Amino acid sequence: MSTSDGLTLRPWREGDAPAVVAAFAAPLMERQARGPIRTEEDALAWIAQWAPLAEADAAYAFAVTDGEGAAVGHVCVSAVDRRHDTGWVSYWTSSAARGRGVASRATRALADWALTELGLHRLELGHRTDNPASCGVALAAGFQIEGLERAKLKYDGRRFDVELHARLAAP
Ligand SMILES: CC(C)(COP(=O)(O)OP(=O)(O)OC[C@H]1O[C@@H](n2cnc3c(N)ncnc32)[C@H](O)[C@@H]1OP(=O)(O)O)[C@@H](O)C(=O)NCCC(=O)NCCS
Repeated sequence: MSTSDGLTLRPWREGDAPAVVAAFAAPLMERQARGPIRTEEDALAWIAQWAPLAEADAAYAFAVTDGEGAAVGHVCVSAVDRRHDTGWVSYWTSSAARGRGVASRATRALADWALTELGLHRLELGHRTDNPASCGVALAAGFQIEGLERAKLKYDGRRFDVELHARLAAP
């Protein structure tokens, strides 16, 4: 899957492990996985989880690559529910790739695909209210704000409100 401006979304590969380790070295990135990803072995396990989940129609994860083929980000639709045709969207970009619209463009491409090819009707995502960049990505990718989930997350003993966004196949 390609965006109109040079990004490609493709399945994660073992060869991406160094890029995954580098991306997870950025502050707070451990919150984007079940635990820290510090070694190539951690990254290979993180990469290996995706193929069986796609096989089970449970989650679809993509490496976002730039014009040179380097993995600079991740977009994912998980919690695929075929009863209600819903899914949960998440994303991150490597710190060197941030601020250039990579997450916005890749998330829009992922959502376009999930709401057509994958046949889902409603995609949801949530971000902490102290993460304005993530809110910007959600809005740029067509996810409207639906409301506030108070004190939904707890990190390091502190609770965080989460803003919920969603995008529908037919607005
Ligand atoms: C959030 C994240 C994915 C954004 O990635 P990115 O590739 O830099 O995003 P984009 O360049 O597409 O920018 C998205 C929007 O946020 C805005 N933005 C970027 N950084 C910002 C900041 N620190 N504060 C406010 N707005 C910001 C951009 O201007 C852009 O808005 P625009 O479309 O109105 O210009 C990235 O910072 C990241 O991976 N953070 C850690 C993981 C994370 O928080 N994931 C989301 C969890 S809900």
